[in-house]
Amino acid sequence: MTKKVMILPGDGIGSEIVEQAMAVLEVAAEKYKLALSLQQGLIGGASLDAHGEPLTDDTLRAAGDCDAVLLGAVGGPQWDTLEREIRPEKGLLKIRSGLGLYANLRPAILYPQLAEASSLKPEVVAGLDILIVRELTGGIYFGEPRGIRTLENGERQGFNTYVYSESEIERIARSAFEAAQKRNGKLCSVDKANVLEVTVLWREVLDRLAPEYPDVELTHMYVDNAAMQLVRAPKQFDVIVTGNMFGDILSDAAAMLTGSIGMLPSASLNENGFGLYEPCHGSAPDIAGQGIANPLATILSAAMMLRYSLNMGEAADAIEAAVSKVLEQGLRTADIYTDGCRKVSTKEMGAAVVAAL
Ligand code: NAD
Ligand code: IPM
Ligand code: MN
Repeated sequence: MTKKVMILPGDGIGSEIVEQAMAVLEVAAEKYKLALSLQQGLIGGASLDAHGEPLTDDTLRAAGDCDAVLLGAVGGPQWDTLEREIRPEKGLLKIRSGLGLYANLRPAILYPQLAEASSLKPEVVAGLDILIVRELTGGIYFGEPRGIRTLENGERQGFNTYVYSESEIERIARSAFEAAQKRNGKLCSVDKANVLEVTVLWREVLDRLAPEYPDVELTHMYVDNAAMQLVRAPKQFDVIVTGNMFGDILSDAAAMLTGSIGMLPSASLNENGFGLYEPCHGSAPDIAGQGIANPLATILSAAMMLRYSLNMGEAADAIEAAVSKVLEQGLRTADIYTDGCRKVSTKEMGAAVVAAL
């Protein structure tokens, strides 16, 4: 049966990197006789410019009717001064929340060929393979009340609410325990339970569930220490589970361990396994239009999509092997370039992965 994929390139480098991922998907489909039908839609500033809103209900519905979604990135300086409700980032938050994509998996894997590209010493990152499980549809990103209000003395005050209900904590915790079971059986829950009540509850729920997963060793760590440990000795981690904002921050830090944020893919899943796949990085306005962005995070996101949502694991393995081969050949976009390698453009990198496939 034909599987339908909604492609949402978005803004900035979004269209450049997604174009390469689509080329890889098309070749993989041909080689592995996969029936894939790709359709395109608008999100972020691109949708704002066309429809006056960063994600229309029609596009949201069409995305939900597909078998999976592949997204580039949203945002850019030209939209930064607009009112908050219609900014490009709201489109991303709307599709995550609208499709119930609470489980965000962000694997940080160091390809051995890139040990030199990491800003950390090669021995600190060699063999690195960690998974950050980030809660994606709750926490301070979505908590109410929120806003900017004017106090009696005329001063303005900005406020957000950091909330998690037990059921929200439980479902992301189960995703993380299950992921740890399939990996090395270690789960570190990251919180700020020494200060924030919401994460006291978070910790309680994790502890309550732990006996159901006797094969997983659960530990807890405060987020400030976790940030430090990630750059001190990242290989101590297997799976990290944390809330929306801490996960956002820690995954960018983890990205750098792998050489570049341009290497980090992600999957955002709902309870039925439906997923949206996107690189962890943004629209990179500083390099957009130059044809130098690294497309590998998006290509690797497409591989995750084949594996998790489309039941096409063989093709996913082949794409990942092709990426490894291209790195082996010494091809590097600017962000992962080191001496002695060959610097290539976005298009050249995509074409090399296609050729390796
Ligand atoms: P960013 O991730 O876009 O860029 C940070 C730095 O990393 C920049 O120097 C950029 O050039 C570099 N970079 C990012 N991706 C790269 C790639 N594939 N290849 C090479 N270099 C890459 O973060 P930012 O600058 O803080 O944000 C820019 C815009 O993107 C903002 O509007 C922000 O809201 C948005 N954003 C969107 C997403 C998303 O769509 N998921 C994620 C983060 C930021
Ligand atoms: C990410 C981004 C988004 C987030 C923004 C653009 C809303 O930083 O996907 O990591 O904070 O979740
Ligand atoms: Mn982020």
